[in-house]
Order: sequence, then structure tokens, then C-alpha cells
Amino acid sequence: MKIVSGNSNLPLARAIAGYLELPLTNASVRRFADDEIFIEIHENVRGEDVFVVQPTNHPANDNLMELLIMIDALKRASAKRITAVIPYFGYARQDRKPGPRTPISAKLVANLITEAGADRVLSVDLHAGQIQGFFDIPTDNLYGAPVMSADILSRYGSQELMVISPDVGGVVRARALAKRLDNAPLAIVDKRREKAGESEVMNIIGDVDGRFCILIDDIVDSGGTLCNAADALRAQGASDVVAYCTHGVLSGSAAERVANSSLKELVITDSIKPTEAVAAAHNIRHLPMASLLGEAIRRIADESSVSSLFD
Ligand code: R5P
Repeated sequence: MKIVSGNSNLPLARAIAGYLELPLTNASVRRFADDEIFIEIHENVRGEDVFVVQPTNHPANDNLMELLIMIDALKRASAKRITAVIPYFGYARQDRKPGPRTPISAKLVANLITEAGADRVLSVDLHAGQIQGFFDIPTDNLYGAPVMSADILSRYGSQELMVISPDVGGVVRARALAKRLDNAPLAIVDKRREKAGESEVMNIIGDVDGRFCILIDDIVDSGGTLCNAADALRAQGASDVVAYCTHGVLSGSAAERVANSSLKELVITDSIKPTEAVAAAHNIRHLPMASLLGEAIRRIADESSVSSLFD
């Protein structure tokens, strides 16, 4: 087995390799003067089971291109099997046509990864489960919920917990978390989004008065969804609001927005390498995912069950 990393999240790739007690495969990524990407794998990978770790967060297009070129290099070097380990799968929010004459970019990206030569995909909390069906190769979708629920129970287990879905689309995810929190009650935020990057809370479905609210989402990008929801929950009498979110995209001034919000804390995983602003934010905490990803990789390599990780 070989673990290769692109540039997008080297600390996570190193931690995964550490879990598996393997060195990272020696590879280099360089740029030509016009920014074209050039990749060299400096070790023999002929006949190897290779895992390429590369989340496709900001800069999304560069990181995606790096992943595609890396897969191509491995394919041409006769790797036996290539698994694209994409802890955060960028473009996932474009999973349907929101209007006429618009693309389904998540499907296009899935096609590109397959065409480049990937044999399998391993990801975490895909924005929508059905994105697995965009790939015609086996795709494992891991869940952050077990890691999150363990953290919630150890830190806030003594509180009157209530799980909050920040929009109607997140109810299945919120219900799965509530089940892991001894069947905590559930409330839903009725969120409207007129245009990308701007959201508005219309209503809260459920009685949150006096409750310690746990907001759960897959992606925090501008921070608008979670910060607006936290304000609305506080206005309805919530005793405190914390947010758990798998992918801390946190674009632009989002870290500052979270720091100045009524959220007690935002807990994200390390699927995306934090920017300096995110690392410095006083109320943003990270949950490591290397053990979960490393164990899934070990099981894929051993041809054993991945789903039983979540039993
Ligand atoms: C939307 O469906 C996603 O699950 C997130 O709620 C959304 O991407 C968050 O975006 P923002 O932080 O910009 O409100």
C-alpha cells in the first residue's frame, strides 16, 4: 500500500500515514512559469494499491487539477489500484440544475476523476448521499457523526441537548446525530436562500426554549447559515448554541464572522487545512479525522468492511 499526498492538506495526509505506520510516498508537485502543474512520483508504484489524499477545497480548481494529474501519473506508472481520498469533495453543492441552462458540476467533476483513472473514491460527509451515484466506480462515504457525537457527549453530555438542522435539507443528518445522542429532540430552521452566499432564517420549527442547541451541518462556507441560525435560536430562548460541521470551508471573512457571532463555539474537522484566520479564531475548534480515514483505508486495502466502522 502507498499513500501519496497533493498539496491541499499535507498535515492530514501525514497524520493518516502516521496512523497506518507508513511513510508518505515521495512525490513532488511543481509549477511551470504559466502555472501549469507538473507532478513526479519519485518511487516505484508498479503493482501497488495507492491512496491519493487530496481534498478539493480552495483553491478548488488548482487542487482538483492537481488530483487529476496525480492520478494520471500513477496510472501511467502502472499502479494496480488508485483510490482518490477526497475528504472534502468540492463542487458537491452543484449536484442538480438550480435553473435552466445551468450545469451539474458535481457530476462533471465525478466524470473527470473517473476518466483520469481513479478506481475508487473515499470521501467524508458528501453534501448529498446520492453524489455516490455520480461515480461509476465504488465510492465510500464516511460519516463525521461518530467523532462528533463522542465529542458532544464528553463536553456537553450533562446539558438539555437539542439537535438543530440549519435547513430542511439537513434533517436526515441531524436525526442521525440525535440518535447517537440518546435520541435527543430535534428542531429545524426554515432557511431561505435567494442567492449563493446569502441566507435568511424565516422560522424555527420546534420549541428550543431553555435548550442547549447543537447545530449540525456538512459545510460552513460564509458562516451565514450557522451565525443567523444561532441568533434566531437565542432569540427563541436557547440557553446556548454550539455548531458542529464537517467541512470548514470558511471563505473570506467567515472566521471573523464566527468569532463575532452568538455561537459558543464552532467545531469542524480537519478535512480542510485551516487558514491562519481559522486557526487563530478563539471559538473554532478542530476534530481530527486521520484515525477514521486511516482505518477506512486499511480496511479497503484488506478488502474488509468499511460500513462496520459505523455500527
Ligand atoms: C447547504 O446546503 C450546506 O449544507 C450549508 O448549509 C451551506 O453550504 C453553508 O453555507 P454558508 O456558510 O455560506 O451559509
